Amino acid sequence: MTTADATGSSLQSDADRLVPAVPYVPPRPVPLSPLAALIRTAAQGEGNLLSLLPAAAYRLPVTHLGYSRRSILLVNEPELLRGIMTDPTDIYPKNDLMVGALEPLVGDSIFVSSGAKWRRQRDMIDPAFSHIRLTRAFTSMSAAVDDYEVQLDQLASKGEPFSLDMAMSNLTADIICRTVFSTSLQTQIARDVFDAFEIFERSAAQVELKALIFDPPFKKIRQHQPVLDACERIRFHLGELVDSHMNAAAEAFNDIASACIAARDQESGCPFSRKELVDQLGVLFLAGHETTASALTWLFFILSVRPEVVARIRAEVDEVVGDGPVAFEHVKQLRYVRNVFRETLRLYPPITFVPRVAMEPTRIGKFKVKRGAMIMISPWTTHRHRKLWRDPEVFDPDRFLPEREHELTPGAYLPFGMGPRTCVGAGFAQTEASLIIARLVRRFDFSALEPDKVRPVARLTTRPVQQIQCRAKRRIN
Ligand code: HEM
Repeated sequence: MTTADATGSSLQSDADRLVPAVPYVPPRPVPLSPLAALIRTAAQGEGNLLSLLPAAAYRLPVTHLGYSRRSILLVNEPELLRGIMTDPTDIYPKNDLMVGALEPLVGDSIFVSSGAKWRRQRDMIDPAFSHIRLTRAFTSMSAAVDDYEVQLDQLASKGEPFSLDMAMSNLTADIICRTVFSTSLQTQIARDVFDAFEIFERSAAQVELKALIFDPPFKKIRQHQPVLDACERIRFHLGELVDSHMNAAAEAFNDIASACIAARDQESGCPFSRKELVDQLGVLFLAGHETTASALTWLFFILSVRPEVVARIRAEVDEVVGDGPVAFEHVKQLRYVRNVFRETLRLYPPITFVPRVAMEPTRIGKFKVKRGAMIMISPWTTHRHRKLWRDPEVFDPDRFLPEREHELTPGAYLPFGMGPRTCVGAGFAQTEASLIIARLVRRFDFSALEPDKVRPVARLTTRPVQQIQCRAKRRIN
């Protein structure tokens, strides 16, 4: 007999006993006045836009961020957000600063393009993320977690500390390599792509506060040479992977890359060119691993300091899965796991800001907007907004329970964006995250070495300022 029932109910009561009297507020910059926030940011010397956000950004529907040469409007109000993100006239395309920063890596691909070009790309890429593809991808995801468990076992038996950030980046990159290209991260090409990507992540100019503050609208940004070199290396290898797929028999691969290669423009019947394929697959590598890695880093950090959350996850996994392998059908039933992931995405949305630019003079709420103004859609502040959430800073996965749904403000939760540009990979990410959480929590305990030092920073994604060092311990059942 599996001990699911017995273990489940005893763990549940353990979990109940572990419920803390004091609600948990995970690390965040305390909102300050604009001047105090500016001084804090300068003192920290990290160029951290999160520290620069004034308290008003967490309580007003729209805030004018006054410290930039270009006008920056940060929008929180759900109706205004909807208007911007679903605008059919295309006056709010992706922001030029972001597009310029990503262009050397991903060209004019789905993440950055706009108008008819974007529509065509989206129509061609959507089928690669259909439900049926996701069930196939699940097998590759599980194989990556198998390998990762072996590595973690070794670290746990030696008691060696490791970087949680790097562990999650490696695991999610491995999953992307296997599901997109049918190759594991252990191959030389994949490893080289990953290493070059680390350079891009650390130094891409998108995240430079200096450009945001001092540059006028539409000024072309210059990436640093090491970043350009890294992009060239990544694109070279992506080209090799595309070629290996194109030169093989049609049925040789059954992965996301082959679905993109097989895609046809609905009107012309044309496929993506080789360059377009490299662009699109670059985006899938970038958007497909870095985001999930960011969320899982925060999630496992929170678990490392909240044993009552860990106990409830274990109880649920025992009840739904028992002792056997975690299957695709289980994932939907892991409701508490899903809510823990959702709540982590609320407090630490991987894409901290989703910047757009106004291509013509317009109006947002009571604000007049000039051409070239930066429109900051900010999951970070919207998700922590005083008027949109009850106890916004508190980590409370149960706020997503159906019986508490009435407490949620429609349109105030947008980790995957909203409207036509919603994330293509949202279902993929949720499935992958539930699988990883269920499997790793079932077998390991995590403990962060210096939890009090952890602080968030907005880089390419929302990250800890310093990588989080932690230890894993094999759980004794
Ligand atoms: C927790 C994980 C993830 C989060 C939080 C996330 C979030 C987002 C957000 C906020 C956007 C932009 C929406 C906008 O600009 O309006 C986006 C777009 C996109 N994401 Fe994700 N994403 C995640 C995982 C993934 C994965 C796993 C993939 C693919 C394997 C992916 C592929 C894309 C693509 C291709 C776009 C561009 C869509 C378009 O413009 O039409 N993402 N994502």
